[in-house]
Amino acid sequence: MDAQTPLPGADAIDALMARGAAFLGARYAILGGAMSWVSERNLVAALSNAGAFGVIACGAMMPDRLAEEISATQALTQKPFGVNLITMHPNLMELVQVCLDAKVGHIVFAGGIPPGPAIKAAKEGGAKVICFAPAFALAKKLVRSGADALVIEGSEAGGHIGPVSLTVLAQEILPHIRDVPVFVAGGLGRGEAILSYLEMGAAGVQLGTRFVCATECVAHANFKRAFIRGAARDALPTVQLDENFPVIPVRALQNEGTKRFLEHQAMVIGRFKSGAVTKEAGQLEIEHYWAGALRRAVVDGDVENGSLMAGQSVGLVTCEQPSVEIIAELLDQARAALLARRAGV
Ligand SMILES: Cc1cc2nc3c(=O)[nH]c(=O)nc-3n(C[C@H](O)[C@H](O)[C@H](O)COP(=O)(O)O)c2cc1C
Repeated sequence: MDAQTPLPGADAIDALMARGAAFLGARYAILGGAMSWVSERNLVAALSNAGAFGVIACGAMMPDRLAEEISATQALTQKPFGVNLITMHPNLMELVQVCLDAKVGHIVFAGGIPPGPAIKAAKEGGAKVICFAPAFALAKKLVRSGADALVIEGSEAGGHIGPVSLTVLAQEILPHIRDVPVFVAGGLGRGEAILSYLEMGAAGVQLGTRFVCATECVAHANFKRAFIRGAARDALPTVQLDENFPVIPVRALQNEGTKRFLEHQAMVIGRFKSGAVTKEAGQLEIEHYWAGALRRAVVDGDVENGSLMAGQSVGLVTCEQPSVEIIAELLDQARAALLARRAGV
């Protein structure tokens, strides 16, 4: 199967993806959602070469490390790709400059509302800006602030999540935001679902979990195996024990680490109640529990103690496949669904 070969129904899917694809400069309006430690040069280049749009996850990388990663990706693909920057990174402005110097065409700001100067610098430097909109009011604000496109990500997604499902976010946002392309994310693992969101007005889609088991992805074999074994119901958000000690919700496959996180919270809360630690120190102890945990799972393969961030669509990941095959499969499913609908089947 070749993702680049037109099949029956291709024109209709192309038409539905036309706006998003033109915005990205890619063959298909399919973004490979940035995943820390996972979305590096190999997966990003493979997705872009397959006609989708790879996005490097900058995560905690420092500017020189990001510059190196961008240049290594450019050596593997002539196709466009983006860079995802976390808004609270202390060197955010320098990272934007690194992207601009390397002629990266699209900067995705994640993890919070991007500061005005970062958006301005990116746009003035010639990059298109993509922002995450977790609610309709914020979507409108981000467009007013200069976002060139939005991603709306439902709580079905892997990694850090908001409280609202894509089903509801899409109904709240897609009919009303028409000025900029809107990409939908969270829980997408098959082409039929992609088709339905395109028909609702999405310009394109973003998938993360489905691409972890791409052959080109450098994630540890143990990490990939956990995804292949994992069912939708195993990918759960982090549980918070006490409202006084908030926990950032992250959706991940359950393991020893997630069980011990509950015990860790209980222990810290107990110490706070006995006066052994202040509230602030306790909160930090809780937050530090997961420091480095995603790297431990993705890079070192410690799937018991590391963080197995995964979306509910993990249940649709059944084997390791080349990126080009995953993209072709998604498109074939979308085309087949469209043809069946037209034929009244
Ligand atoms: C392992 C993992 C790591 C992720 N890391 C990031 C990240 O660093 N920055 C970000 O904006 N999103 C991150 N995400 C979210 C993805 O970019 C994407 O939006 C999400 O996976 C889409 O939902 P899906 O997993 O249901 O396909 C991560 C997701 C996963 C599964």
